[in-house]
Amino acid sequence: MSLVVHRLREVGSTQDEARRLLESGRAGPGHVFVADEQSEGRGRFGREWLSPAGGLYATFLVKRCPSIALVSGVAVIRALARFDVAACLKWPNDLLVGEKKLAGILIETTRHVALVGVGVNLLDAPLQTATCVRAAGGTARRGELVVAIGEELRKPRDVRGLLTAYRGCLSTLGRVVRIALANGGTIEGTAVDIDADGRLLIETEMGRRTVSSGECVHLRV
Ligand code: BTN
Repeated sequence: MSLVVHRLREVGSTQDEARRLLESGRAGPGHVFVADEQSEGRGRFGREWLSPAGGLYATFLVKRCPSIALVSGVAVIRALARFDVAACLKWPNDLLVGEKKLAGILIETTRHVALVGVGVNLLDAPLQTATCVRAAGGTARRGELVVAIGEELRKPRDVRGLLTAYRGCLSTLGRVVRIALANGGTIEGTAVDIDADGRLLIETEMGRRTVSSGECVHLRV
């Protein structure tokens, strides 16, 4: 089944456009919403996602599954690799080149569908802490990268294969990390592995901790 592409000029957020059409029954899994610019692009933890013209801003509708965060991270890494961009993942699914952010993924869900929002800096990096496909030596154009991500998202992967692929993409393992938790707390230690649900296992001075969500900072190797 081919991807149904909804091309939009300027929108608030592709997440909202996708949700609107999903809820009205006019879109479903296999559809993607791609905007030239977003005036209210959002990232994880309610942060703003700067979305000037020239970047890739897309929301893919996919059937909801428990491992969607891992599936999405691997899919975007694999899609970029097709265009000679060697990125890695900072847990759970920030895409980095070196330690600079190239792309981000925001996953929102309804009962049956996941809205996988992908933002990729293509020609410019909007922040000093970020990089872009052009600076990373990649050749990806927006349309072909959208199609590649859509194809990778729909590739069937069994759980074991997915975990292996995800571990292979993750640059967090073996690093000293600090995780800011939603409750305001932090955990610091060495990231040693992920479990079958993609939770991060951290060896701390107080013993091993398992973290299912939070903001991860790589402190040192
Ligand atoms: C993050 O790293 O915090 C996730 C950023 C996700 C940004 C994308 S751009 C397309 C989609 N629409 C949005 O408003 N956000 C996501």
